[in-house]
Amino acid sequence: MVELDGRVAIVTGAGRGLGRAHALGLAAHGVRVVVNDMGTSNDGTGVDGSPAQEVVDEIRATGGEAVVNCADVATWEGGEAVVQAALDAFGELDILVNNAGILRDSTIINMSESDFDEVLRVHLKGHAAPTKFAATYWRAEHKSGVDRRRNLVHTGSTSGIYANPGQSNYGPAKSGIVTFSQIAAKELAKYGVVSNCVLPGARTRLTLSSPGLPEIMEAPAEGFDQWDPANVSPVVAYLAGATCPFTGETFYVQGGTVRRLEPWSLTGRSIEHPVRWTLDDLAAAMETFGPSR
Ligand SMILES: NC(=O)c1ccc[n+]([C@@H]2O[C@H](COP(=O)([O-])OP(=O)(O)OC[C@H]3O[C@@H](n4cnc5c(N)ncnc54)[C@H](O)[C@@H]3O)[C@@H](O)[C@H]2O)c1
Repeated sequence: MVELDGRVAIVTGAGRGLGRAHALGLAAHGVRVVVNDMGTSNDGTGVDGSPAQEVVDEIRATGGEAVVNCADVATWEGGEAVVQAALDAFGELDILVNNAGILRDSTIINMSESDFDEVLRVHLKGHAAPTKFAATYWRAEHKSGVDRRRNLVHTGSTSGIYANPGQSNYGPAKSGIVTFSQIAAKELAKYGVVSNCVLPGARTRLTLSSPGLPEIMEAPAEGFDQWDPANVSPVVAYLAGATCPFTGETFYVQGGTVRRLEPWSLTGRSIEHPVRWTLDDLAAAMETFGPSR
């Protein structure tokens, strides 16, 4: 049994796409939800509170409980505000789903400083800031004797794992999120917190703006729509459950497929030298690794 009923969650970037599906999915299982979304365009510009409000209205229309929050989660101030919104509305926080994101694709040569900084900020800092303030609250609760499971679910991307050309800002931000999740798992275990990460694949505004993807992700006239963002949400809900047995893990999720990633590891082969290598000896020994992959 996945225990979700009565828990309190924040979902960042929940006005659209995957975050919206996660918020609706959690609410359908009795979770009270802070629907956070700044309502930006794909590139992170602009502010619009209506997407988040529409999701809140949708949850309330089906008898669920939700409140809107439009903070920029990629600032310490916004991270603190969204956590405070959960405590003000529901008096508790059990689950933080970090999901907000933007895209500003460009080759390395053409990358502007602001496009690099802003994508790193929204994704990596946008995960770190709410986590910092959620963890601060959870530590205080734990120290005051509250023994309660808390769950972090983060959002990486295969772009960070497979290194997509044109995404030298987004890819490192997303692989950084996987590492951030693992560090959170280790640091916060003593406060009852589990931290896991999903790498989703779904038809959303972001992917529909990427060349080649709209054709692949087209919804079928009938049958299972494997690119529906709602397919990712059961995995997020599972990782948000009070009995979630995983921590520090990363799962690729698309359609009905869930695959666990191997953690970073050294290959079995190593070359050894009893003292510092000379360049010639090193060059010869390096050949034993075989061709570059
Ligand atoms: N769609 C996919 O296949 C896919 C694949 C890999 C990773 N992801 C990741 O999933 C997450 C959700 O993306 P999506 O595809 O649903 O896109 P989306 O554009 O539909 O949703 C992202 C939401 O984040 C909000 N947002 C942006 N910056 C914010 C900020 N600073 N504070 C609060 N809200 C902010 C936007 O307003 C938007 O509603 C992103 O982190 C994205 O990188 C998506």
